[in-house]
Formats: sequence, C-alpha cells, structure tokens
Amino acid sequence: MNTLSQPSFTRLYGHAPEGEWAAPGRVNLIGEHTDYNLGFVLPIALPQTVRAQARRRDDGLLRLHSTKGGSAEVAVADLAPGSVTGWAGYPAAVVWALREAGHDVGGAELSLDSDVPTGAGLSSSAALECAVAIAYNDLYGLGLSAPELALVAQRAENAYVGVPCGIMDQMASMCCRAGAALHLDSRDLTMRQVPVDLAGAGLALLVLDTRVKHDLGDGAYAGLRAGCERAARLLGLPALRELGPADLASALPRLPEELRPLVRHVVTENERVTEAVAHLAAGALAALGPVLTAGHASLRDDYRVSCPETDLAVDTAVAAGAHGARMTGGGFGGSVIALVDAEAAEAVAADVTAAFLAKGFTAPRTLTATPAEGARRIA
Ligand code: GLA
Repeated sequence: MNTLSQPSFTRLYGHAPEGEWAAPGRVNLIGEHTDYNLGFVLPIALPQTVRAQARRRDDGLLRLHSTKGGSAEVAVADLAPGSVTGWAGYPAAVVWALREAGHDVGGAELSLDSDVPTGAGLSSSAALECAVAIAYNDLYGLGLSAPELALVAQRAENAYVGVPCGIMDQMASMCCRAGAALHLDSRDLTMRQVPVDLAGAGLALLVLDTRVKHDLGDGAYAGLRAGCERAARLLGLPALRELGPADLASALPRLPEELRPLVRHVVTENERVTEAVAHLAAGALAALGPVLTAGHASLRDDYRVSCPETDLAVDTAVAAGAHGARMTGGGFGGSVIALVDAEAAEAVAADVTAAFLAKGFTAPRTLTATPAEGARRIA
C-alpha cells in the first residue's frame, strides 16, 4: 500500500484520512454506442486515475475538495438531483444515489486529485464517481460488489447529473483488470477478462486527444439513444441487442429511413466486439487493427458521431502505418485510439500532429495506453 499524502488532507480537515482509493479512466477498444442497446463492449482501464482520500463524518455533512476545482460543502439530507452542479455534482450524485438505493450513508470529508484528462472522452467523470463510490463502500461498510457500485455510479450520472449514459464507463472503471480488456455483456453484466499483452506483441495503443468537444454532443447522445430505443420498439424487441446480423436485411425495411443507419451500426458493432475478442483470444493482436478502422467507418457513416478532427486523426494514423484506428467514447470530438507497432508510435503521433497543424486544428495531446487495474483501495 502507498503512503498517504496526509499533510494536504490534514491541512484541509485537521486530521488524517481513513484511507485512499483510486478509480481509473478508460478507453474502449471496440463496442461503441452498444451499451445502452444492451450489447457488448470491450474497454480497458487507463493507468490515469482519480484518487480520493476520505474520512467518514457523523454529522451528515459532505465536505469536498478537489486539487483542480476548489472546495464545496453540502448536507447529505439536502441532496436532490441537480442540487450541486459542476465537478462537486459528481461526488454529491453518488452519495445521493447510495441513499436513494436505501443505504444508510451520511457525510464524509473527501480530498480529490486526478490525472485523467478531462473533456477528452476518457471517462474522467465516471472515474470520479467510482472513486467516491468505492471510498463510501469502505467508509460505511456497505459490502457492495464492484458491479453494484458501477450501477450506483451510473444511476448518479443518469438521475442526478442528468446524462443518460449507458453502463460501460462505470463498469470499466470498477471492473477492469491490469493486462486485460473487459468483455462485458451490458444486458446482464456478465464479463470476461481478455488478456491484452500489447508489449509482448510489439504493439502500442496510442491515444490521441483531439482537444475538441463539440457542444452538440450532449443533446445528440440523448437523441441517438432515443432513436435506438424507438427502433427496438418498432421491431418489437426489448433492445437492439436482440437483433442479429442475419435479421438485419429483413428488419431495416420495417423502419423509418432515419433509424436504419443507427440500427445497422449497433448490429455490426456488436459483431465487431465478438470478432475483436476472437483475435485477442487467438493472440492475433494486430488483427484487431482492421476491426477498429471498420468500427470508425460505421461511427462516421452510420452513427454519425465523428467530426473532422477525429476523422483526420484516424485517416492520418492509418496512412502513417497504424494497424487500425478509431474514435473512442461518445463522439463529437474526444479521443482517437490507434494500434501501432511500438517502434512506430512516435512517428504516427508526429504525423497526426503535423496534419492537425496543417489544418489549423489545435495539436492533439498524446498518451500511450496500457491496460491497467480498475478501482481499488490504495492506502
Ligand atoms: C459515453 C457513455 C457510455 C457509452 C459511450 C458510447 O462514453 O457514457 O455509456 O454509451 O458514450 O459507446
């Protein structure tokens, strides 16, 4: 266990924390916009985490401090959806969601720090929610499992923050394992850890943060989700997950024109997850590349959540020799992942940067992702 950096917590609150917990951001290898259709996803956790030092309080007060966002304070009895906004809304939301689910939790002191890039489509908010959820689980001895905590965090985001996200980001942050991708079935949360030894295969996974987050993202996400749910209803299915590739040709003509590409994306994307898992299981990591690139084409042409910056990053990375590349996360900006030969990583990143500058875009921020451990107590 690490040593607590107690001085800052002690300076803030006048005594030492009871412990420290960490929860990571994620990149999704493949399976985008499939989670709320109860399909498959394949994320890995990033080494970057949100860390929460915490101590229980028995007077019902939730005191929050973030190294980046400052301080906030709220009585847990006053928590109601939307009552705290900004960064502090996420921890507040988790405490609200625990109480709403019937858990008898009260106040706490929390000191939060993070190196998960924000606004980059790497799930910094899910990491924040999960760090608070796992800290509270221990502080109050709730005994909830990792998937149960992920569901609380998702409920917090859906009902308190007001973002209709699926379950992928919270499950990735809670349940990923070092050295593996999480093959998750969003319908019943069954999961399998699929080993991903990038270094052993001489490969690297580049993450290119395009530095753009288009404002239409938030409303558009809800609209796309509603479109998928409408399509499922029209087809008489509980969710689009139930539609297999063999049913696609007969299903599409039964739908209004504008819903057909959405359905095509979801069905083919679920297939791509299965294909990707088969390549990983066979140790054929480079074969994942074309699956990623096909996934991007589907997000661009059928789901229409890409943008000029993500398309440029993907096209340039592939032209520079990447085995494959795709936008990762919700879309409308955020990050692109590129599967590259380890020795080519720098050259591919340099080509993408040059292409961005030539177009007058802000240079992307680049990091290399290795599959890391999910949420845990670290001190
Ligand atoms: C966001 C949401 C996830 C998922 C992805 C798209 O990250 O939070 O639940 O829907 O978009 O795959």
